[in-house]
Amino acid sequence: MNYPVWDVPVIGSGLVIAIIAVIHILISHFAIGGGLFLAMTETKALREGRRDWLDRLRKHSKFFLVLTGVYGAMTGVGIWFSIGLANPEGTSTLIHNFVFAWAAEWVVFLVELSLAAAYYYTWGRIPDKTHEKIGWLYAFTSFLTLFIINGILTFKLTPGPEWLALAGTGREAEAFFQAFFNDGFWPSLGLRSLACVSLAGIWSLVFFSRIDRETDGEVKIQLIRWSAKWLLPAFLLMPFFFAWYLLMVPGEHRDLMTLGMSTIGSGAFTQVTRMALITLMTTATIGLVTYFLAWLNPRDFSFGHGVSLLFLALIATAGAEGTREMLRKPFVVSGYLYSNSNRLADVPRKNAEGYLARSPWNPDRGDRPTVRTGERMFQGQCLSCHTVDGYRSMRKLLHGRDGKAIGNILQMLHENAPDSPYRKFMPPLVGTPAEIEALRQYLDILVNGKLTSPIVDPSAKAVPDSVKVDTLAAPAIDTAKKDSAAPAVRDTSRSTAPAAKDSARI
Ligand code: HEC
Repeated sequence: MNYPVWDVPVIGSGLVIAIIAVIHILISHFAIGGGLFLAMTETKALREGRRDWLDRLRKHSKFFLVLTGVYGAMTGVGIWFSIGLANPEGTSTLIHNFVFAWAAEWVVFLVELSLAAAYYYTWGRIPDKTHEKIGWLYAFTSFLTLFIINGILTFKLTPGPEWLALAGTGREAEAFFQAFFNDGFWPSLGLRSLACVSLAGIWSLVFFSRIDRETDGEVKIQLIRWSAKWLLPAFLLMPFFFAWYLLMVPGEHRDLMTLGMSTIGSGAFTQVTRMALITLMTTATIGLVTYFLAWLNPRDFSFGHGVSLLFLALIATAGAEGTREMLRKPFVVSGYLYSNSNRLADVPRKNAEGYLARSPWNPDRGDRPTVRTGERMFQGQCLSCHTVDGYRSMRKLLHGRDGKAIGNILQMLHENAPDSPYRKFMPPLVGTPAEIEALRQYLDILVNGKLTSPIVDPSAKAVPDSVKVDTLAAPAIDTAKKDSAAPAVRDTSRSTAPAAKDSARI
C-alpha cells in the first residue's frame, strides 16, 4: 500500500470514474466524429452549392467548439482527477510506460483545439477552400488523438507477452511498440471510430432538431436525414469489430462472459453479460428511433427526440465501458497489476513479509497487527471495488455470516485456488496470517457489530499445546462488544488491543 485511499461513501471511487468517463466519452468521441462530420458536410455543401447548409453548419461549429473545447476538456481533466485518486498505482503505471505517447497526445490536443477554434472563427473570413482544409485538418488531428489514447487504453486488457516479460525490470520501454500496438488495438480502434461517427450523427440530430420546421422545413429535412445516415456505418460494421475484439480478449477474461451467456436461461448470468445485453438493446433502440423518427419523419423530429437518442447513447456507452471494465477484472493491467493495486509479482513477497510491512500507511509499525490493521487491509485491498454500505456493500455481501464464515471466505480469497469462483473477479487477498486475521476481525465487527467467533491466533502453531489453549481461552469478544458501534473500529481496536497483548495475539 503505497498511497492513501480515496474512500467515496455509498457509490465508491470506481463509480465516480465511471460517471465522469461516460460523459467524457459522449463528448470526446463527438469531438472526433464531429470533425469528420463538419468537414464532410462542408465539402458536400460547397460542391452542391447549398448555401443554406453552410449557414447552419457555421452555427453547428460554434456548438461543437463550446461543447468539445469546454466540456470535453473539463471532463477529460475530471478523468485524471478521479483515476489519480482512485487508482494512483495504475495511473502511475500508465504514465510511466507511455511517457512519449502522452507527450505526443498533449501536443496533438493543443493543435486540435487550436484548429477547432480557427475553424469556427474563420467562417466567411477566408476563402471557402482554405476553410474547408482547416476542417479536414481538424478531422485528421482529432482522429490522431483517438489513435494514441486507444493504444494506451487497450494495453490494459492485452499488454502482450513481450511487455509482460519485461514488466518490473525497468526495461519496459523496449517493448513500447508491442505494448502500444497490442492485440486489442485495431479492433478497438474500429469500434471507437464507429462510435465517433454515430455520435457525430446523434449530436447533429440534437442540434438540427431545433431548426424551425415551418420556416425552414426543407433544410431541416435535408440535414436531419443527412445526420441520420451517420448512424448507418456503426450498425453495419460494429458486429464485425465487436467479434474481432472478443477474439482478442484473453481466454481467462472471456470466461466470465461465456459463463454469463450459458446461464442466461437460469437467470444467473454475470454482471458483464448483463451489461453487454444492455448495450445491445439500447443500440437496437437507437437504430429504431433513428429510422422511424428521424429518417421517416425528419420534419417532425424534435429536440426531445434528439435528447432521448443522446440519453440512449449514454446508456449504451455506460454498458459498453462497464462490460470492458468487468472483462478486465480482477486486473487494471491484465497479468500485471490487480485492481486493488497489488502487483501479481509481489504476491509471494507480501504474503511472506506482510501487506503493510513496507507501507507508509501501516498503523501498527513495529507492533502486532490490531483491528486497525484489519481496517487498513480492507481499505487497501477491498475498497477499490466495494463500499461499506453502498455499491457492492460489504455489509450486505457478508450479511448473515459470522466470524468463522468470514474467515472461510478470506481464506478462499487468500488461497486463490484455480477453481475458486472468486478468482475471475476478485484479486487474491495478500498478507501474513496475522494481517488476514486482523481483517477478519475488522469485517466481523463491521458486519455483526461485535466479534462473533473466538480470535484465531495465527501464530498459535508455533507455541506448545498448553499455552495454545490459554491463548484462546479469553477471546476478546466482550471487550469488543463494548464498542460495538461499527464502523467506529478505531475505538473497538483500542479496547481489543490491550486484551490482545496477552490473551490473543493478532
Ligand atoms: C477487483 C474488484 C474487487 C476487489 C478488489 C474485491 N472484490 Fe469482492 N467482489 C467483487 C465483485 C465484482 C463481486 C460480486 C459482487 C456481486 O455479486 O454483486 C464481489 C463479491 C464479494 C463478496 C460476496 C461473495 C459471495 O460469495 O457472496 C464478498 C464477501 C467479497 N466480495 C469480499 C471482498 C473482500 C473481503 C475483498 C478485499 C480483500 C474484496 N472482496 C475485494 C469485486 C472485488
